[in-house]
Amino acid sequence: MGQPAKTIGRVPADHFDNGFYGQDILSVSQFDRDKLDYIFNVAHEMRVLVERFGSADLLQGKILANLFYEPSTRTSSSFMAAMMRLGGQVIPMNNVQYSSVTKGESLPDTVRTLESYADIIVLRHPEMGAAATAAHYAAKPVINAGDGVGEHPTQALLDQFTILEELGRVDDLKVTMVGDLKYGRTVHSLTKLLVNYDVEFVFVSPDILRMPKDVLDVVRETGHQFTVTDDVHDVVTESDVLYVTRVQKERFTDLVEYQRVRDHYIIDEALMATAKEKMIVMHPLPRVNEISYAVDEDPRAAYFRQMRNGMYIRMALLAAVLGKA
Ligand code: NCD
Repeated sequence: MGQPAKTIGRVPADHFDNGFYGQDILSVSQFDRDKLDYIFNVAHEMRVLVERFGSADLLQGKILANLFYEPSTRTSSSFMAAMMRLGGQVIPMNNVQYSSVTKGESLPDTVRTLESYADIIVLRHPEMGAAATAAHYAAKPVINAGDGVGEHPTQALLDQFTILEELGRVDDLKVTMVGDLKYGRTVHSLTKLLVNYDVEFVFVSPDILRMPKDVLDVVRETGHQFTVTDDVHDVVTESDVLYVTRVQKERFTDLVEYQRVRDHYIIDEALMATAKEKMIVMHPLPRVNEISYAVDEDPRAAYFRQMRNGMYIRMALLAAVLGKA
């Protein structure tokens, strides 16, 4: 991954060479196809492990600090569950309003504090680049669990793992992303990850929520076909993956603007009737109004399976960064 390995306990960080040991996980750009294969294979093993035995003791004695400056249900609890299922323990800092952050403590000082108790820090923060800042100050590994409108690399990994598990391949697919492509960090990371494969992209959003230029540049530079449109009906019939996102209310400065676009796309049974028989609907969740509840019964609705995959991917990452996997 290019960066010097960090310290884990008293073991020299380069001791176990799986490419991840002692590394920060900050961006999907750290992953190539070999590294992705490795993580997906381990995630698959983690699924088997959980289904057969429930837990293991691979990370016994290790402690994770779960530091969340933004709301979270899935990312936060799946990191905690992942650590606990591998025999490790967690310092849950999901309510920073009750911590010294409220007294004005800076991110570097908070990170320095937590790393003196824990072996790894998982960080979610409203500012883009916050995870990189934390990693700069921390001697222990930092995992980015979402930095504002920037990236959400562990979500992209679980998204891609879901595509692989559901459709059996990642190459030769048409992936349509719908909704808030401007502020949605999951679609930024997923797009940058999928350019490692032979994927054709369709980006569906209202004009004011288009995919940012820097992400489109990556798609262009890697020679991938893509279409930008605001009509989901035109493109759903051809899609292998329909990745739906929530309009990110908390990122709008003008709430009137939010009200105008919030219900722009609603995936319902009528739309699903026009889609391929073998395709999947994904959503990082939480869902607000974008997918009607009737679609949940459709076997192509993969979002709850996708959410479960998050724990297996995070188990694989924790094992790779901290353990001897
Ligand atoms: C996403 C996030 O936080 O970016 N949620 C998640 O991690 N599953 C998506 C969202 O909040 O809309």
